[in-house]
Amino acid sequence: MGPDDTADDRLDRRWWKEAVVYQVYPRSFNDSDGDGLGDIPGVTERVGYLDALGVDIVWLCPVYDSPMADNGYDIRDYRAIADEFGTMADWEALLSALHDRDMRLIMDLVVNHTSDEHEWFRRSRRGDEQYEDYYYWRDGRPVDEADDATNEGPPGEAPPNNWGSYMGGSAWSYDEGRGQWYLHSFHEKQPDLNWRNPDVRDAVAEMVTWWLEKGIDGFRLDAIQCLSKADGLPDGDPNDAPVGLAQFTYGPRIHEYLRELYERTFANYDVTTVAEMSGTTVEMAADYLGEDGDGLHSLIQFEHMDIDAGPGGRWDPEGWGEWSLPEFKRVLSRWQRADDVWTATYLGNHDQPRIVSRFGDDEASREASAKLLATFLLTTRGTPYVYQGDEIGMTNTDFETLDELDDPMTVGAVEDIIESGAADSYEDLRAFVNYTTRDQSRTPMQWDDSANAGFTDGDPWFPVTDTYREVNVAAARADEDSIWHYYRRAIELRHESPVLVYGDYDLHVPDDEQLFAYTRTLDDERALVVLNWSGERATFDPDGLGVGDARVALANYDDPPTAPVGSEFRPYEAAIYRY
Ligand code: NOJ
Repeated sequence: MGPDDTADDRLDRRWWKEAVVYQVYPRSFNDSDGDGLGDIPGVTERVGYLDALGVDIVWLCPVYDSPMADNGYDIRDYRAIADEFGTMADWEALLSALHDRDMRLIMDLVVNHTSDEHEWFRRSRRGDEQYEDYYYWRDGRPVDEADDATNEGPPGEAPPNNWGSYMGGSAWSYDEGRGQWYLHSFHEKQPDLNWRNPDVRDAVAEMVTWWLEKGIDGFRLDAIQCLSKADGLPDGDPNDAPVGLAQFTYGPRIHEYLRELYERTFANYDVTTVAEMSGTTVEMAADYLGEDGDGLHSLIQFEHMDIDAGPGGRWDPEGWGEWSLPEFKRVLSRWQRADDVWTATYLGNHDQPRIVSRFGDDEASREASAKLLATFLLTTRGTPYVYQGDEIGMTNTDFETLDELDDPMTVGAVEDIIESGAADSYEDLRAFVNYTTRDQSRTPMQWDDSANAGFTDGDPWFPVTDTYREVNVAAARADEDSIWHYYRRAIELRHESPVLVYGDYDLHVPDDEQLFAYTRTLDDERALVVLNWSGERATFDPDGLGVGDARVALANYDDPPTAPVGSEFRPYEAAIYRY
């Protein structure tokens, strides 16, 4: 992008706005030592690959020392690397390899909770004075006072309140040693840190500074909605999913904690922060961002992830899988138009199923629809996030039995559903689970058509999806028309086009059930994006959009219409016009 100081000031140009992020789930990315688990040297081996794709930032999911109850989101030691992923020297080598190619590295900052094997928790559960208040410890209630959610405790005793965890069951577990219950918004092996305790905040800030000093380029802040809980930890509405959600998220001190962390750490470095904020709305979001807010740069909102859930949320086995394009456009356009908010643009990640199976058509139109999704990701406002494997159109697979699943969230949800009587067995839930489970995005990366898709020479920790003979990186790179090359070109186009990063967003044909079309405008630069988000032909007929013949900057069919208005677009046809 050409230098222009005045425009820079007006646009508030930032490297993290202009960047494209690639998310690596290290366990499933590339195994360098044949133990069947992806590792850090495996990522380093592929830095050239990422550079060829054209991405600027790698977001590496947790590689810290961990017992892996939640694949690394349960951290045992924040300052050490898990053996299975390599060593600190390996991590340093990855950082240098990325920096050598002008790419940056951000990592997860998981500080709502630790592992129950973290030293802080081990000492806290022993009642060690310095750590006794590091977590939420409470006495139980007599059974008859309590609601039904209960994890095993002493006879006659129920958890301190009725909160449920995101991973199913009660949000409380009983600890025999301490004779009390501890809170875990997620898995029982992920006890929540007590952010009310200033010692906890000091320890977190110290640890964050330690990583910043090592030269990391930023953090993705995990589950920040949970950092502050409602005063007194009151019971929640039994109809919430999970129960207590309104009490254990977005509590009264959240801004204070984030602002303090920012001032003590991020503010002193040229790094970026992106906060995972499940449950946030456009109205809430701006308060977290920028110098006038909590100093965060951008956020991951979830509204479009909820679009196809049943009335009871993601794990409601009734009414899932239906979504309408007009509603999807309404939700996303709200975020696109919010001038004071900068979001991560994403359609999938390690917590979601495969994007082409969910939002495209992985059977009749896998190639076209995967390219359409790429077009969307790279032409909207916000920092685009590409999740590993989506750049080759990896698809969902079929988990035939409960035993084939790994994700504790899915397993917990299935157990809860069966216990509630809404289903008798996994078989009743199989189609639903296959649609939504986080495991869909955690199958090994498909590099080539050799054994185990070239992911490992050993036994893969998780089965490779059987599409790998056709759907793999080597085949995609050898074919100029592939989804991979389309991503590469779309990334390049974004890098060359300030209008795609900074331009205003205007939605056209909002009620059209097939077309998602918008213009991006920056002074006299204009881009029009037309996406036929359906398997049928559709005519683009907006009111008053004065575009005659336009230059096609990128399209997923060879011969796109050159006069978009009034033209017919084929199934999953996507085109970016400049005019
Ligand atoms: C969000 C992470 O993305 C997810 O994978 C994890 O299970 C929870 N936070 C808990 O850390």
